[in-house]
Amino acid sequence: MPFRFTENELREIDQILNRYPDRRSGMLPLLHLAQEREGWISPGVVEEVARVLEVSSLHVSDVVSFYTMFHRRPLGRHLVSVCRTLSCHVLGGEEILRHLQSRLRLGDRETGTDPEGLFTLETVECLGDCGAAPVVMIDGTYHENMTVKRLEQELSKLETES
Ligand code: FES
Repeated sequence: MPFRFTENELREIDQILNRYPDRRSGMLPLLHLAQEREGWISPGVVEEVARVLEVSSLHVSDVVSFYTMFHRRPLGRHLVSVCRTLSCHVLGGEEILRHLQSRLRLGDRETGTDPEGLFTLETVECLGDCGAAPVVMIDGTYHENMTVKRLEQELSKLETES
């Protein structure tokens, strides 16, 4: 699906690119801007960012695949990010992850979106809050000392609101 930055976004992009001596250095802010609108980095976004920065699409694709903060598939309505680094993993994160994989009916996929498109599960590296492990982020909000029971309460709340 083609993607084009709007006139307003292009004005914003001009300001962003003016901060850098080399246009290519503005790639991350541009990708964030596009992801904010699209929800993910589609092939159309890759083409558009490459066009604006005058670089190859392959270069943009490489950057997108390097950073886990960029989503390469459309997301469900809510994003659940489970920390899989050591402290969280051994203090309950693994159980939470297994619970989510089963609840979202992901089959043999480790991460992904449930068939209803409501929740997307992703795993992330240390969220910098190891003292409160296990940590789960739901739509960008940290939930510390998470348990399967508390997670279920949070997800049920979101289901009810949907
Ligand atoms: Fe999970 Fe650091 S290990 S927040």
